[in-house]
Amino acid sequence: MLEHDVLVIGAGLAGMRAALSAQETGANVAVVSKVHPVRSHSNAAQGGINAALTDRGDDWNDHAYDTVKGSDYLGDQDAIEIMCSEAGQELIDLEHMGVIFNRDDRGLLGTRAFGGQQKARTFFVADFTGQAMLHVLYEQLMKSSIRVYEEWFVLSLIIEEGMCCGVTAFEIATGRIYVIRAKTVIMCSGGVGRVFEPSTNALIVTGDGIGQAYASGASLMDMEMIQYHPTTLKGSGVLITEGARGEGAYLLNSEGKRFMETYAPNMMELASRDVVSRAEQTEIDQGRGVDGCVYLDLRHLGEDLIRERLTQIVDIGQDFAGVNIINEPIPIRPGMHYIMGGIKTDVNGRTNIPGLYAAGECACVSVHGGNRLGANSLLDTVIFGRRSGVHAAGYASEQEFTEFDVQGYIKGYERKLQSIADRQEGERWAQIRNDLGKGMDQYFGVYREENGMQILLSRIEDCKKRYEKVVLQDRGTIFNTDLVFTLELGFMLDCAETIVRSGIERKESRGAHSRTDYPLRNDKDWLKHVVVSKTDNGPQISHLPVKITKWTPEERKY
Ligand code: FUM
Repeated sequence: MLEHDVLVIGAGLAGMRAALSAQETGANVAVVSKVHPVRSHSNAAQGGINAALTDRGDDWNDHAYDTVKGSDYLGDQDAIEIMCSEAGQELIDLEHMGVIFNRDDRGLLGTRAFGGQQKARTFFVADFTGQAMLHVLYEQLMKSSIRVYEEWFVLSLIIEEGMCCGVTAFEIATGRIYVIRAKTVIMCSGGVGRVFEPSTNALIVTGDGIGQAYASGASLMDMEMIQYHPTTLKGSGVLITEGARGEGAYLLNSEGKRFMETYAPNMMELASRDVVSRAEQTEIDQGRGVDGCVYLDLRHLGEDLIRERLTQIVDIGQDFAGVNIINEPIPIRPGMHYIMGGIKTDVNGRTNIPGLYAAGECACVSVHGGNRLGANSLLDTVIFGRRSGVHAAGYASEQEFTEFDVQGYIKGYERKLQSIADRQEGERWAQIRNDLGKGMDQYFGVYREENGMQILLSRIEDCKKRYEKVVLQDRGTIFNTDLVFTLELGFMLDCAETIVRSGIERKESRGAHSRTDYPLRNDKDWLKHVVVSKTDNGPQISHLPVKITKWTPEERKY
């Protein structure tokens, strides 16, 4: 019998941080990941991680204020205070583990500016900060006795008597189905990026964990809050880091004008992401774009700085768009990047299901509210990953393993997967996934409105019906990625439905949720979270108040 005190799902930054902190307490910990850990999507984080260090004259209260304002006052301020006050120590701990952050001329940890913040407090490793952190945490994982179920796909959470007590999963290499019993499960499975097409996210980011938690009765919160990153490459939608604007790059329209003067005269290109993305989309919609894009211009930064601090985007520009960013402006557009919402948790990662925790992008603590500040996501992963790990291990130490019918779960899934493999006629998953993603891009973009979201909801319902008839080409058991992609699509469709239903529910514009039919923020009626839960009659919407500690909502100006 496979069993662990703490079972972490996902081996990105949140997952590895959670596993390591749980193990430090003496718990028996394991990690399940559908990919090799260093292929996790945290790898793609480019620009950096925020922390207010007092020896730089910075103050975590200022970081917290910027985060609250950036969230358009939807972030829970108690959680934001915890994240920002613990950031400095976490950064130092990461450095001590081995993350080689860039240093300034004095040899101190160097910072760059990032959007929506009054101070430059983003610590970075050139433009591959996520990759650097991921590899260091992976070294720590390898040094530990934590078991890694690598390339195992979780099928479902096991809930017995209202408590989470393990998962069913299949080993992708063999197709064998297992139950892994656990006293606690920490979901760290990442976001929903590929529900949209295009997205800056890796192809593996398919909302599995959010879908599994939702199916098991966990509440989801703020699902309508989808972040469009202002600088994604024309065509492919690959991320061009905000670090470029942090280093001083300009945004230009077809007239060569720095159009942010009109929208955010103080912060210009470094206004918060929702503001910059709306500005770009407005320029494009009003005919001052170029082929559906605007330009990001780095030329004045000079080759030395670009090659030292922005090395990855030099290659990305060349390889994906044929642009030499050192002497040509880059065509970019707003692109889907992040979900602020997710599985609702408290500040220790607890969900509404005893024994089930969540951290990282799949979770909603909520520290990002309506709009996340750049470089707060890496911070969120390590702070709330660590806190979840510690709390889950403490909870597990007081629990016994729950007894249940292990073979019943295994046989049930064997039958289910066999019935998919047995279908002889039907549609391929890829067509449905593509239709879903394109629809989300079209009707749930930077701007959205009721009619479009209703069309989208009907399309999702149609996709769900088509999904019931998906047919496989590979009916084997060995490394059947056809089956993996098919299973992922089921979770994507559930995530999409909760996003769109939450979007229809919120009848105002706040943060990333910009409705042309309700263009203003409405604190009187909508200073509250939208929560969605699964019932036998379909998704049910409810609301929760926003936690306000000391920052009263004000009009946002940048
Ligand atoms: O632009 C970026 O480098 C992305 C950072 C983030 O989303 O935090």
